[in-house]
Amino acid sequence: MKSLLLLDMMFSMQKNLTKIHQEIQKWYKVHGRVDLPWRTTDNTYHIYISEVMLQQTQVQTVLKRYYSPFLKKFPTLQALSKASLDEVLKMWEGLGYYNRAKNLHMTANILTDKAQAQNISPSLPSEIDELIQLPGIGKNTAHALAALAFKKPLPVMEANVKRIISRLYKLKTPTDKTLWKTAYDIVDKSNPFYYNQAMMDIGAMLCTPKNPQCEICPLNSICQGKVNPTLYPTKKKRTVAARKQNIMLYLYKDKLSLTRRTDKFLHGLWGFKEIGVPLSASKYIGEITHTYTHFKLHCKVYLYHERTAAQKHYFTTQEIEKLAISKVDEKIVKLYLDTIINI
Ligand code: ADE
Repeated sequence: MKSLLLLDMMFSMQKNLTKIHQEIQKWYKVHGRVDLPWRTTDNTYHIYISEVMLQQTQVQTVLKRYYSPFLKKFPTLQALSKASLDEVLKMWEGLGYYNRAKNLHMTANILTDKAQAQNISPSLPSEIDELIQLPGIGKNTAHALAALAFKKPLPVMEANVKRIISRLYKLKTPTDKTLWKTAYDIVDKSNPFYYNQAMMDIGAMLCTPKNPQCEICPLNSICQGKVNPTLYPTKKKRTVAARKQNIMLYLYKDKLSLTRRTDKFLHGLWGFKEIGVPLSASKYIGEITHTYTHFKLHCKVYLYHERTAAQKHYFTTQEIEKLAISKVDEKIVKLYLDTIINI
């Protein structure tokens, strides 16, 4: 008797969910961002590039400045593997989190080498456990690629989806394990592509952090948190730490010295030197600031005229334009140019 009751409950829950899946799809077709270029293609490499770009970056930034130029320059996995890391970093310039570009390049090389050994064209694997072994592909991206590029019946997890799930089940501080389990329970296995794209859009457009539009949300009928949605999930208070640096610009005959960075954060990019104490003969030219996710950087910039070429590499500002440099170093070049114009 008890198991019959349980079966009955599960059946009605499934029926409910099927109805919600239909509502979600209906909403997506009318209101969703159906024209995003990575949603109108079956090219798994294109979808891969979009997912890596979208890992830490807003849709509009990827769309306006990076996605199409990157694919124009590197139209296939093979083309990406043939490029130098410098060329890849140059196309990534300004997008930040440069490890993503390095990992893309590495993955393209791994897949191209593997394909060459088998005399076939390189392609991405379709299974999560193979995807996750590639550099730069974590659990979230592996799921996104499997579901969106290969139409596997799997959920996608990103910030918007986390917020929807937290509100659906009134979860204030859900663990990753709970979020994933719930995501697996409610995914539309018949239409994973539409379902996942729709969930991301519902999170971005309706189930927003502030002022969610619950009245028109297709998940309204099953949402437990709709009475007071902004309680879920609890916001983590983040204090943005300040970091200070002194940057020394070594100038020799109208050329500035830059070195190739070897630290993990900006590995491979060219950049100006940080120093502890500025040289006494240097001139302070100003301060630039840059806000990262976890800290705000304040750089005091000093200029030092060298009599002999004491550093390794010097570049004119026109030459610097062709190098891959960070946003901070771009701001420093601008400060330098403004300074010499005003001298
Ligand atoms: N963020 C991660 N993947 C996305 C996608 N396919 N569309 C919009 N935003 C995303």
